[in-house]
Amino acid sequence: MKLWGGRFSKETDSLANDYNSSIKFDQRLYKEDIKGSIAHVKMLGNQNIIPKENAEKIAKELENILEDIESGKIEFSVTAEDIHMNIETILIERLGDIGKQLHTGRSRNDQVAVDFKMYLREECEDIKTLILKLMEVILNIAKEHKTTVMPGYTHLQKAQPITLAHHMLAYFQMFLRDYERLCDCVKRLNYCPLGSGALATTTYPLDRFFTAKELGFFGPTENSLDGVSDRDYAIEFTFSASMIMMHLSRFSEEVILWCTNEYSFVELDDSFSTGSSIMPQKKNPDMAELTRGKTGRVYGSLMTLLTVMKGLPLAYNKDMQEDKEATFDAIDTLKLCIPVFTNMMATAKFRCNVMEAGAKKGFTNATDAADYLVKKGMPFRDAHKVIGQMVAYALSENISLDEIPMSMLKEFSPVIEDDFYTAISLETCVNERNVYGGPSKKAINTAIENAQKFLNNNK
Ligand code: ARG
Repeated sequence: MKLWGGRFSKETDSLANDYNSSIKFDQRLYKEDIKGSIAHVKMLGNQNIIPKENAEKIAKELENILEDIESGKIEFSVTAEDIHMNIETILIERLGDIGKQLHTGRSRNDQVAVDFKMYLREECEDIKTLILKLMEVILNIAKEHKTTVMPGYTHLQKAQPITLAHHMLAYFQMFLRDYERLCDCVKRLNYCPLGSGALATTTYPLDRFFTAKELGFFGPTENSLDGVSDRDYAIEFTFSASMIMMHLSRFSEEVILWCTNEYSFVELDDSFSTGSSIMPQKKNPDMAELTRGKTGRVYGSLMTLLTVMKGLPLAYNKDMQEDKEATFDAIDTLKLCIPVFTNMMATAKFRCNVMEAGAKKGFTNATDAADYLVKKGMPFRDAHKVIGQMVAYALSENISLDEIPMSMLKEFSPVIEDDFYTAISLETCVNERNVYGGPSKKAINTAIENAQKFLNNNK
């Protein structure tokens, strides 16, 4: 018999029963469900809504149930539908009539909302820790490669020389924003819906401030209809998760490119690479490819939630049970991807010589050559044209700008002197870009200091 079976004269059809049941996936909320129930029943006792000694007995038995679940002694039933009714059913089996008092002044609608929020709050903390570890690895690479020159790209064409540190610190900033997005998500989520009841609170004198505090929320939600029908927090979370995956995916794409024979900028450790079943020479960046690939399923979770919610009238609708699998899958995917990616990067070896040689080719110093002429008094547009002609010449001779002999340089412009060569050396190109946020050694030292401060402050 269902806990809600009073007005029914027939059993639920077995197909309908399976269809309706969410215990397969919502059982992972067991701890939050029990915590929420303990706070609720304590409050019922304090407010004399039920006898205090009954409240204590219920709280104690809920603790026992928690222990029994964790030691694997409890098997959940599909008939009891979801985690909330499974636990309540067990409680009633154990305590009889006293157990039946737990659900006084509560609905599964506020119960599931509080459970889900607490679960997500906890998971956000776990994911934040994982992101910090990734940021630390990125910062370590930056510290090690402050002077490793590499080509910077636009349109995937060589543009200007930068350093590997500069490149890495770009990702540091992306993950810093992701970290803060998760903090924001928790900030907005952290109001307690418990006491909203089915939709309109209850006639019992509930103390919603007590339960909110007891469960670590800033306070109770302001409106009971919103309390039970809001899933913004799950959407914000899956959006934040999507953004993290998008960043990991861009990073993965670069790692994959850098692993190609054509680039050869990086060599992944054998322990984070895979081989081919037919081609003996292959070493594939599967971890990065999988991360890029798994991005799609996280975006899928976000789209699922947005679509589930878009047509729902207030307040609770059963459609909302679909929120969990999508959110859980996003959580699981992040918790799988971030550590693998972190360790893959921590063990990767960068080929500094190849990177530097790459920066030497492709005229990455052409802007600096033009700036040289500007500093000698030529307007920038003219300088741009002169160096453009110089590049065309160098291309026809298959040489780089610094390999053009002085006599020839003079033909392009008589203002060019011997200091031209140092002015367009990669080292000068990088270190003269000394603007805040740029690649120069000085600017990078500041960036590294700031990054380190962020990590220290968020430990
Ligand atoms: N399993 C349900 C869910 O996840 C719990 C809430 C059920 N409430 C209801 N009125 N049927 O959404």
